[in-house]
Amino acid sequence: MDSITITRPITLSRYLVEKHRGPAGLPVDLCQLIESVARACTQIAVVVARGGLADVLGEAGSDNIQGEAQKKLDVISNTLLIDANEWGGHLAAMASEEMDWPRLIPARYPRGKYLLLFDPLDGSSNIDVNVSIGTIFSILVCPEHADLSSETAAEQAFLQAGAHQVAAGYVIYGPSALLVLTVGDGVVAFTLDRESGAFILTRENIRIPEETREFAVNMSNQRHWEAPVQRYVAELLQGSQGARGKDFNMRWIASMVADVHRVLSRGGIFMYPLDERIRAQGGKLRLMYEANPMAWLVEQAGGAASTGRARILAITPEKLHQRVPVILGSKSEVAVVVAYHADAAC
Ligand code: AHG
Ligand code: MN
Ligand code: MN
Repeated sequence: MDSITITRPITLSRYLVEKHRGPAGLPVDLCQLIESVARACTQIAVVVARGGLADVLGEAGSDNIQGEAQKKLDVISNTLLIDANEWGGHLAAMASEEMDWPRLIPARYPRGKYLLLFDPLDGSSNIDVNVSIGTIFSILVCPEHADLSSETAAEQAFLQAGAHQVAAGYVIYGPSALLVLTVGDGVVAFTLDRESGAFILTRENIRIPEETREFAVNMSNQRHWEAPVQRYVAELLQGSQGARGKDFNMRWIASMVADVHRVLSRGGIFMYPLDERIRAQGGKLRLMYEANPMAWLVEQAGGAASTGRARILAITPEKLHQRVPVILGSKSEVAVVVAYHADAAC
């Protein structure tokens, strides 16, 4: 008989089962929860890809708690994530950029021990122009005696530093749909096989290259930044004629998922710093479902994530929708920005 080569791709399901059996000993209910988040994201990927063929583009006609106009896809993605995750028995509650308060698990379903947070659709301004968007998620353990008697009371259970996350990741809906995941032992990526509907392991042990010549920041906000960020970016712009002695390239996609994915793939630094107009609200990006999961992924890939003054993962949140300045990416670059903040404080 002729020998037949059969390739056996590692699916997300198999990867998680092996994480359960291996030294990480990932709990079965956490594995199942990650799979159910991935299933929701597969559904979102289908809807995103249909775009104008389905009635999913444009405004929803409502605002979220941040006062931002919701797009139809913000609302649809939020609903798909809730529907996929509330019945499985893994969750105590979930929270989202698109919901004012945490959502409790309905009494008809068993309550589990995890808390799920998500930015259902990141990069909303890119939806209608067919540029990459994503979903970001973070999983925490619900404290044992948490008060889950009401949605408002449940907020307290979520207010844990990012260092306590037990899983975090994002799905980028780009030319391919990719799930990038950490459970605390490195960063891996899976590509959605649209024919089988499975996420297939395509990258292991993702490391952020140390050496970089690329930065990502919305330059139109430059005049509003604080002095340390002004100093850092001015040096990058001076290129080979300035203190850095080399030229830098700039990229700004305006989807955090896509910008961070580039940094994870080929290095660089991503910043959404504090600026004068957003000082009162603490920053632009949300700590618990944007900054924390991305910070953990970046640290797990050998990079660093800071506000400029503190390690993002060390911040104890005061409220669910808290915002923070975000500076993350190649360790040595983040260190320069942090040093400039320290200099300015002296
Ligand atoms: P969201 O679409 O979830 O509200 O997040 C958008 C965020 C982030 O993805 C991106 O980095 C940033 O907003 C872009 O902001 P600007 O439009 O100010 O550049
Ligand atoms: Mn976002
Ligand atoms: Mn969003």
